[in-house]
Amino acid sequence: MKQHAYQGLHYVKPSPQIRHVVAVASGKGGVGKSTVAVNLAVALAQQGFKVGLMDADVYGPSIPKMTGTEHEQPAVQVIAGVERIIPVERYGVKWMSMGYFSAADRPLIWRGPMATNALRQLLNQVEWGALDVLLIDLPPGTGDIHVSMIQEVKLSGAVVVSTPQAVALTDVEKGVHMFLNDKVNVPVLGLVENMAWFTPEELPQNKYYIFGKEGAARLAEKLHLPLLAQLPIVQSICESGDEGTPIALKENAAGAAFLALADKIAATLQ
Ligand SMILES: Nc1ncnc2c1ncn2[C@@H]1O[C@H](COP(=O)(O)OP(=O)(O)OP(=O)(O)O)[C@@H](O)[C@H]1O
Ligand SMILES: [Mg+2]
Repeated sequence: MKQHAYQGLHYVKPSPQIRHVVAVASGKGGVGKSTVAVNLAVALAQQGFKVGLMDADVYGPSIPKMTGTEHEQPAVQVIAGVERIIPVERYGVKWMSMGYFSAADRPLIWRGPMATNALRQLLNQVEWGALDVLLIDLPPGTGDIHVSMIQEVKLSGAVVVSTPQAVALTDVEKGVHMFLNDKVNVPVLGLVENMAWFTPEELPQNKYYIFGKEGAARLAEKLHLPLLAQLPIVQSICESGDEGTPIALKENAAGAAFLALADKIAATLQ
């Protein structure tokens, strides 16, 4: 992207063609936000919804890799005299990420405001078309990018992902309050407890509570929020993310868990 293009920014308003914008967030890193976001997007698309996903992680975009689209180049089209970026389509979902514009093995060295501006511009310039849901995969934390996204994009709600361990829960609680805070007032649709237990593929009945038991379930209760899903640690969830073929495409227990999550989110939004 050209440097001069950062000027003349507008506040991002979701296009009137987008019915719901939903953030997938967590105060904590590495808990599975991107995994949940990608699989939720694919599961919603399988149920017939028109879905887009915006990767708001400028410093560590994982959407291109997780969707097997890392070698794609979004097209640019001039529409009504304005350059518009066409999202990459795969698995019935429209994907957009800063990762499509930067080399995967080079870090982006940007200060906060620059990253925020670049993301704002990207979101503004994408030709999403008509969507039922645009998911936003937020980076970890509660920093600059989050604050501007939350203030400038009209969100229908947020899905907050946590693992069960105590060390994640404190940060996740902060993440929840970032949305519920009365200056922002974004409804939290519920919590997703990811890595809730480990189930070996060959022993599908066994559950090992590696990161503690029900931590996120208890947090949901404390915050009076729905617990939308408890997703186990399954080797194939990680492998399919690495391979770029989301598990939600597969007919197995883990795939079904994401379809059930998509059902709940669709019901909540309607
Ligand atoms: N339920 C699961 N079972 C097995 N592996 C998982 C599961 N959920 C996530 N993972 C793996 O854990 C790693 C971290 O997941 P992911 O990148 O989705 O987390 P994140 O919260 O988006 O991280 P970041 O904070 O860096 O954005 C990935 O390798 C992913 O494949
Ligand atoms: Mg991520």
